[in-house]
Amino acid sequence: MTGVAFPPGFSFEPLQRKHQRHLFDCGQREVNDWLHTRTLQHQDKRLSATRVLIDQDRAVTGFYTLATGQVDFGDLPVDLARKLPRRALPVAVLAWLGVSKTRHSEKLGDLLLAQALRDCYDAGQTFAFVAVILDCVDDRAKAFYQRWDFAEMPGQPYRLFLSSQTLTAMMTRPI
Ligand SMILES: CC(C)(COP(=O)(O)OP(=O)(O)OC[C@H]1O[C@@H](n2cnc3c(N)ncnc32)[C@H](O)[C@@H]1OP(=O)(O)O)[C@@H](O)C(=O)NCCC(=O)NCCS
Repeated sequence: MTGVAFPPGFSFEPLQRKHQRHLFDCGQREVNDWLHTRTLQHQDKRLSATRVLIDQDRAVTGFYTLATGQVDFGDLPVDLARKLPRRALPVAVLAWLGVSKTRHSEKLGDLLLAQALRDCYDAGQTFAFVAVILDCVDDRAKAFYQRWDFAEMPGQPYRLFLSSQTLTAMMTRPI
């Protein structure tokens, strides 16, 4: 499994109780609340998995949460749905992602997103899904993801998807 190279001094770890998650502030209340209050419970119940980026002082500098889900055949764009069965279809869900606001614009968001997509790709080798989907908290977050080829789900402007074909092309592209 190839991982993303985070800058020197950072470590990247599965979320654990010892991490100082309550001090994390990415500037988005909803995203902070998720990390502060619900991530561990959901992880313990095997509903989602969270990975955190830890700096030299052991502060949580960034994180993302992945889960699995389903979308209805009819919710997918025609191009993607054309060859698929007319039923609920498996998807990977990039449920949350955030970077500490004191470290914005240092490319950590891009690196975390790259690692999240790498995790999805690797998982997809054993548990197949048709797309990675996510819900954007606002237009700024949407612009961030659209730079990575995420596209809108028809009729749902804040729900974005990346097909498994596009993900595979992204992950297997020669560097
Ligand atoms: C969105 C977020 C993760 C970006 O993290 P970041 O580390 O500041 O982003 P990066 O430094 O990797 O920036 C990468 C690129 O995205 C752009 N970008 C960064 N934040 C952006 C935003 N909020 N909206 C649009 N574009 C953004 C940058 O300009 C940069 O583009 P460039 O390479 O063309 O200069 C961060 O702003 C954040 O935590 N926001 C609050 C939480 C949130 O909205 N999460 C997403 C929904 S769950």
